[in-house]
Amino acid sequence: MPSTDTTAHPASILVRGQILHFLADPGPEDDPAAWEYFDDGALWIVDGRIHAAGPWEALHAALPPARRAAATYYDYRGRLVLPGLVDTHLHYAQAGALGSFGRDLLDWLGGAIFPAEASFADPGVAERTAAFVADRLLAHGTTTASVFATVHAHSVDAFFAAAEARQMRVLCGKVLMDRHCPDALRDTAASGAADSLALIERWHGRGRLRYSLSPRFAPTSTPEQLQRTGELFAAWPDLHLQSHLAESHGERAWIARLFPGCRDDAEVYARYGLLGPRAIYAHALHLDDSQRRALAATGTAVAFCPSANLFLGSGFFDYAASTAAGLRVGLASDVGAGTSFSLIRSLGRAFDVSQATGAPLSALRGWFLATLGGAQALSLDDCIGSFQPGREADFVVLDLAATPELAWRMGQARSLTDQLFALMILGDERCVVATHLLGRRRWARP
Ligand code: GUN
Ligand code: ZN
Repeated sequence: MPSTDTTAHPASILVRGQILHFLADPGPEDDPAAWEYFDDGALWIVDGRIHAAGPWEALHAALPPARRAAATYYDYRGRLVLPGLVDTHLHYAQAGALGSFGRDLLDWLGGAIFPAEASFADPGVAERTAAFVADRLLAHGTTTASVFATVHAHSVDAFFAAAEARQMRVLCGKVLMDRHCPDALRDTAASGAADSLALIERWHGRGRLRYSLSPRFAPTSTPEQLQRTGELFAAWPDLHLQSHLAESHGERAWIARLFPGCRDDAEVYARYGLLGPRAIYAHALHLDDSQRRALAATGTAVAFCPSANLFLGSGFFDYAASTAAGLRVGLASDVGAGTSFSLIRSLGRAFDVSQATGAPLSALRGWFLATLGGAQALSLDDCIGSFQPGREADFVVLDLAATPELAWRMGQARSLTDQLFALMILGDERCVVATHLLGRRRWARP
């Protein structure tokens, strides 16, 4: 096995292992046509993209001998190879506030999070944190993320620069927040729009990076700021947008007072043109079916943040009802309300929450959610999320026996889906053997 390689994309890469990927949402009935698994499988990668995925013997035999000889070979036999994990919502600037006490969302924001984000006035803090978080994402098997920076424009520069240096696929944006926050974190409708525009011009579409407009949530933006954000969103047809929706009861009561003409925050966002197919909203907890259907009709996606929702006591996301209403859903760590960068741990929490809502998440749907589901929710499934030909070759290599408990349990497993379920419940970042971006190994377990 070569060590972490430093060459430009080698022309051909061959990967051998237990290959699993999804072609579609398996749905509540675990549709067998939605996924492919090759027990002794191969990925053939050319110039950083998937050329083919299939059984090792057939794929290897089909390779022209000269290409086979020239290929870089990664032998991951006995390991599970999945598309890179997709974290659809996190706040990189909150890494230093992970595990900070709060009585509820608003108490935690004011007591722990705003002070942490204020320290990003120092560009050095932003640069050091960005490098740390980008490295930790790779160590946790996450290859794509949708990331909130802080209100400071240089905090976005820092994260995009860290992602670019590692060739990660990242969406990021400057927090827009012009009221109900400390002075040190407040922009204005005009400065927020001007800073966002400059960042879009600097970063949007550069390599694997895309800009995501980031109004924090309805209570911390004036109607004028929401209006200007909606205008920017409409003016750039391929921009992304991220925010928070229906997270806590306290927040909802506040929004009702601030926007008396609107039934809920989704109506606020709709009023200002902030919904649509490239918009993703974290949480979406306190919605009934008619609200879910109304949101789905706009094409808006939601980020399921089970770790954060449990940590802040915000409520239980209803994954089954949300997907049944037609919403695209991705999984998210939501660091720092989520207590870990690990989407494997988040899958375990997602299962706990799904049990509590009466519709237990299957292993197949869980691993779909962490890979192609996230790519679909971020409208990036034309580039990432599966091993279909032409997709960017981001993948994670997992050790199903990383802990004594996992090894013992896998020894008794009755089927692949039983193994995948145990991995989702018992696994964590210790299972991540290697993380590859565009075919190249960018992180390896020491
Ligand atoms: N709502 C507004 N801002 C935040 C945040 O930083 N984290 C979470 N979980 N919810 C929010
Ligand atoms: Zn968030």
